[in-house]
Formats: sequence, C-alpha cells, structure tokens
Amino acid sequence: MAAVVAVILAAGQGKRMRSRLPKVLHRIAGRSLVEHVMAAAGEAGVEENVIVIGHGAEEIKAALGAGQKYAFQERQLGTGHALAQAQGAVGNANDILVLCGDTPLIRGTTLKKLLHHHFVTGATATLLTARLANPQGYGRIVRDEEGRVKAIVEERDAAPEEKAIKEINTGIYCFKADFIWPALQQLKPDNDQGEYYLTDVVALAQARGLLIEAVTVEDEEEVLGVNDRVQLAEAAAILRRRINQAHMQAGVTIVDPATTYIDVTVTIEKDTIIYPETFLEGNTIIGAGCFLGPGTTIRDSRVGEGSTISHAVVLESVIGPGCQVGPFAYLRPGTVLEAGVKVGDFVEIKASRVGRGSKVPHLTYLGDATVGKEVNIGAGTITCNYDGSKKWPTVIEDGAFIGSNTNLVAPVKVGAGAVVGAGSTITEDVPPGALALARERQVNLPYRGKKIEKK
Ligand code: UD1
Ligand code: CA
Repeated sequence: MAAVVAVILAAGQGKRMRSRLPKVLHRIAGRSLVEHVMAAAGEAGVEENVIVIGHGAEEIKAALGAGQKYAFQERQLGTGHALAQAQGAVGNANDILVLCGDTPLIRGTTLKKLLHHHFVTGATATLLTARLANPQGYGRIVRDEEGRVKAIVEERDAAPEEKAIKEINTGIYCFKADFIWPALQQLKPDNDQGEYYLTDVVALAQARGLLIEAVTVEDEEEVLGVNDRVQLAEAAAILRRRINQAHMQAGVTIVDPATTYIDVTVTIEKDTIIYPETFLEGNTIIGAGCFLGPGTTIRDSRVGEGSTISHAVVLESVIGPGCQVGPFAYLRPGTVLEAGVKVGDFVEIKASRVGRGSKVPHLTYLGDATVGKEVNIGAGTITCNYDGSKKWPTVIEDGAFIGSNTNLVAPVKVGAGAVVGAGSTITEDVPPGALALARERQVNLPYRGKKIEKK
C-alpha cells in the first residue's frame, strides 16, 4: 500500500452539463476531465488513485478501464459521504490527497507543493486555497485573529461577513488517514443542503486543537471547476493556451495559438511551423522542421522530419521524413508513407504502404495497396479493392508507372518497372517491365449521315 493515496471525487451527476455523458468524461485537449486530474496526481508522485463513482459509474469504468481502483457511492449524500465510501479501497495509507474529478486544470507541481507542505508541517489537514476576485459559489476559508484556519463555510450557509471573504476552498486537501476516517463518521448533515460536507472536518480538527495548514495556489486558473459547458470551453481555452505556450517555448512556431488545437498527449520537435485551424490529436508525434496546416487534422499518427502537410486529414498513419501531403488529402488508418513520398490533392489512402520517393499526385484512391519505391501513380488511379464482400490487395512494384485513370481490380500485381496505359482496367497481373493496355481501341464512326473525312 502506498503511503499517499489520492481519492478523486466523481460521483456527482453534473446536472448543469445537461448531458447524457457523466460530467467527468467530457473531454478537453484529448483527455477526459477526470483523466487530467489523474495525470496531475501522477505528476505529483502519487502512485495510487481511488475514484469515487456513482452517477454513470459503468460508463466511467468502461472509459477508464479495469486498471483503476473504484469506490461506489450509491446515493450522492455529499462530499464527506463520498470520501467515506473510499476507505475500504484506500486501505491503510498514511495520508489521503482529496481531489475533485471536475477540476482538470490543477497542476502536478501544485499538488506536489501541497503534499510537501503537509509533510514538513506534519499537519492533520492541509487545504489548497485560492484568492479570487469573485469568490461566488465557493466555500470560504475562515481564519482566526492569528491567521490560522478555523473552518470552511459553504456559501449558502455563510453569514454576510463570511461571504465577503475572498479566500476560497478549492476542494483539494491532504488529510492524515488516522484523523479523516473517524472524523467523517462524525459529520452531520445540518446544513442548507442536508448533505454530509467534507469541509466540516476542518472545524472538527480545529475544535480538537489539531494543526490545520493551508497552501494558496498562485495561478487561480488551476482551480476552475467545470460545472457547465461554458466552463468546459473556458477550461479548454486555458489548457490550449498552456499547451501552445509550452510548445512555443520549446521551439515550435504556432502562427495563431488561438486557432491551434493540440492535445496534451502530442509531442512536436523544434522548428516545426503550425498554421491556423490545425488539430494535432491523440498519440501523435511530429518531427522537426515540419510545416503543418492550415486546416489540417492529424490524429494518432507519426510525421517525420521536414514533411509538409496542408489541408489534410491524417488518421492512425505514419508519414516518413521529407513527405508532402495535400492540399486536400485524406490518409486513413494504416497508411504508411516512406521518405520523400508526395501525396497530392484529392487523394485518399487507406491501409496502404507507399515506398520511398513515390508520387501519388492527384485524384486517386489507394486501399490495401503496397506500392514500391519511385512509383508514379497517374491522376484518377483507383484500386478496386472491394468486391462487395471482401477486401483484396494490390501490389505495385518499384519503378512502375501507372497511367492516368487506371482501375486496378484487386487482387492484382503490377511488376517492377512496368507501365500501365492510361484508361486501363487491369484485372490480371502485369509482368515486370511490360506495357499493359486494357481498354477498347478507339473507333471513329460516321455521325448524322456525315462522311468521315480522310486525312
Ligand atoms: C465543493 C466544496 C466547496 C469548494 C468547492 C470547490 C463541499 C461541501 N464544498 O463545493 O467548499 O469551494 O467544492 O470546487 O465539499 N461529489 C461526490 N458525491 C457527492 C457530492 C459530490 O462524489 O455526494 C463529487 C462531485 O462529483 C464533484 C466533487 O465531489 O466532483 C465536488 O462536489 P460539488 O457538488 O461540485 O461541490 P461544490 O458545491 O462545488
Ligand atoms: Ca463543483
């Protein structure tokens, strides 16, 4: 059992989202809200999480997987009740870090500071607080004359002079386990909502003369709670700015950070330039010196050094170094472009490999194809890979030349160095070096009674 276990409260319904999806599964920058919180705990060095779930429990489990520890809160009787449900799953950890599933902007470094303060002071409870110009809606931190924390008062239970306090409870705390578990049993739902408030344990600790500490967060944006879709968009914008700033500081040029959407999971090497309306998503790795966008989506893909991709959609693909993709190209899952490949406008490629230096410049569909090196694919080439029930492979060997408007009826193979005449429908393999012509000869017939002039 780890010394510190994080308990993430996520059983609430999130009514104000007006959504069928549980609130904590809404996504910003490539992760669900609760996954951002889990990641922050991980960055702070906390090795074990327990997630308290209730509303949408099955969906949350399905999304986060069986590798997580869960505690179930059947009825949402308040944050104190929620934490109490986690005791069994937490086991005998010494200290508990309490987090909320709906505060996705909290930084690992802030949690680390909180834990550090908790340990060096030996406090029973250490609260993360924030000073807000507008504290509306949050619990207020009440301090005594010496400035020691006395209690947390929820806004709806607060007296006017307490409402004036600008220091608020972020909902993030550390507690000594041997204090918190029995304390939770003493909570009473004697408040405006009739709930068991976790915040009431602070007054209990104070009454017993136990040490209560507080750490104030420097960047108040970190504690923004997402309760509705307006706040969801606000959180997304803040995170976008943070992510883009980090990339720019690391040597990436982002022409317009306000319209560049990069998931937290993406890595980008130096001197890549990103143009507006570009989305880099999921498990994507971009090499150095690339030009990406405008108007480009790249998801779960790898892009090699010095490639240019514009007005394109690239999904689960691997693009080698020095490639040129787009404008208006669609690379679907399983596409592999080796070094120096050119894929031009109105080209769709799916589950295909295109060899070094080959060109697919315009108006082409390649599906289930293996294309060798230095191949030229003419405009309008289509791999007919589907016979209505099964997909079949096409092989085009090194140095082949496919004339414009060719149909390659799979399964079929075009040998190395072979040439296919424009307009051919190829149904049989073409031997290496051969010229394949598979089309009707042209006939010129008399029309409307007019004779055909002879040259
Ligand atoms: C809580 C705090 C408040 C603080 C604010 C910070 C209490 C009583 N108040 O208020 O002092 O300023 O957070 O954002 O704790 N949850 C459960 N089960 C429940 C109730 C809540 O799991 O029975 C979860 C929710 O899913 C949510 C978190 O606990 O993730 C906080 O609950 P919420 O109802 O949003 O508390 P606030 O009213 O925001
Ligand atoms: Ca909240």
